[in-house]
Amino acid sequence: MRISVIGTGYVGTVSAACFAQLGHEVICVDIDKSKIDMINAGIPPIYEEGLAELLEKHAGKKLSGTSDYRYAVMNSDVSFICVGTPSGPSGNIELGIVKAASASLGDALKDKKDYHVIVVKSTVVPETTEKVVLPIIEKYSKKRSGDFGIAMNPEFLREGKAIYDFMHPDKIVIGSLDKKAGDLVASLYSGLDCEITRTNPRTAEMIKYVNNAFLATKISFSNEIGNICKQLDINTYEVMKAVGKDFRIGPHFLNSGAGFGGSCFPKDVKALIGKAKSIGYEPLILESVIKVNEKQPGRMVLLLKKELGDLKCKKIAVLGLAFKNDTDDIRESRAIPVINELLDNGAEVSAYDPMANENMSRIFGNIKYNSSAADALKEADACLVMTEWDEFKKLNKEFDMMENKLIIDGRHMLTPRKDTKYVGLCW
Ligand code: UDX
Repeated sequence: MRISVIGTGYVGTVSAACFAQLGHEVICVDIDKSKIDMINAGIPPIYEEGLAELLEKHAGKKLSGTSDYRYAVMNSDVSFICVGTPSGPSGNIELGIVKAASASLGDALKDKKDYHVIVVKSTVVPETTEKVVLPIIEKYSKKRSGDFGIAMNPEFLREGKAIYDFMHPDKIVIGSLDKKAGDLVASLYSGLDCEITRTNPRTAEMIKYVNNAFLATKISFSNEIGNICKQLDINTYEVMKAVGKDFRIGPHFLNSGAGFGGSCFPKDVKALIGKAKSIGYEPLILESVIKVNEKQPGRMVLLLKKELGDLKCKKIAVLGLAFKNDTDDIRESRAIPVINELLDNGAEVSAYDPMANENMSRIFGNIKYNSSAADALKEADACLVMTEWDEFKKLNKEFDMMENKLIIDGRHMLTPRKDTKYVGLCW
């Protein structure tokens, strides 16, 4: 099949490369010419494990890039909208880019004689495909739904593992208004061993939000239980390990700690809250999920103050800046509110992350960045562990370089050692 993918961000580029790997002919479309030049040269515009190899393999063969919507639509049978849906000031998603892409697609579709399907892959709140995207395409193409197909096909890709997740999905959801459009989209995935869930567009949109909101709820629930356990001198990891053995609960996403970050969980839960409120429903659980998550980093600093007292002029090593391990992404990283609070309290911050130092330096120009954990720990009065990087598990004698050997672990990463005071966030 011939596919065009609108947007060369994380979802668009990964999907394009994986569709090419599945044997389809793929055209990437982006108004940013520099990104298109990179795609055509086989260089990924974003970092994602395994993506460089796929682009190098398929660029100039099964994969190409253009900024010309008309060319892309004329030379493909189906177009995926994979553009960003940033959060607005109130947490609701901004649909400006989705609307612009829909208008350009509609315009390009105007003169096309053959059947074409437009698929929304961007994460959008329920009703968006039917009530926002479809009317815009109808307006600009001067065609009616049915002359072209419309579908919604959410992604469930973890950052860092996106290529693997695309190729080994545990579910594929396709929401379409009619069978013909849904069948065509389903055929694109015939190379994957996965059952396809067929729905209408608004149900597909909801499945995506519920998936992320449920995972975020598991984490905030675990953090709340962890906070209670801590006060009762109970190790919450022992509790959750046992609880997770119940097949109805499962062992995953029960790790308590400094909370969730990233480009999806905080944004998606807030967008679902906004949607619920817009229809007159007060989503109490979802609001608590966000509240617990926002309070969790502050608890790190609270524990630190309990141990050190006044933080003025204290040197605090912060290990981990990325929102999770194996990425340089710092969006909504729990390290950000922690560093802010440390600075507000007059502390000196000495930070280290294996990949995210540079990105964090754009937010905090006034802290020290180190090229190793050992350097960050030198003469520190305390160390806060903020990200679950594997290399932190191996740290040992590096702690001997601290002025005051105190560790506050926000990710259940370190094993308590002799001569070092170890404080777990929730255990
Ligand atoms: C998530 C979803 O997993 C993915 O399916 C969706 O498409 C996009 O959002 P991602 O944001 O890449 O993926 O990260 P994920 O690995 O899910 O972790 C999110 C955050 O939760 C991280 O900050 C992580 O540290 C935190 N987390 C995760 C916990 O605090 N505890 C856990 O038990 C698991």
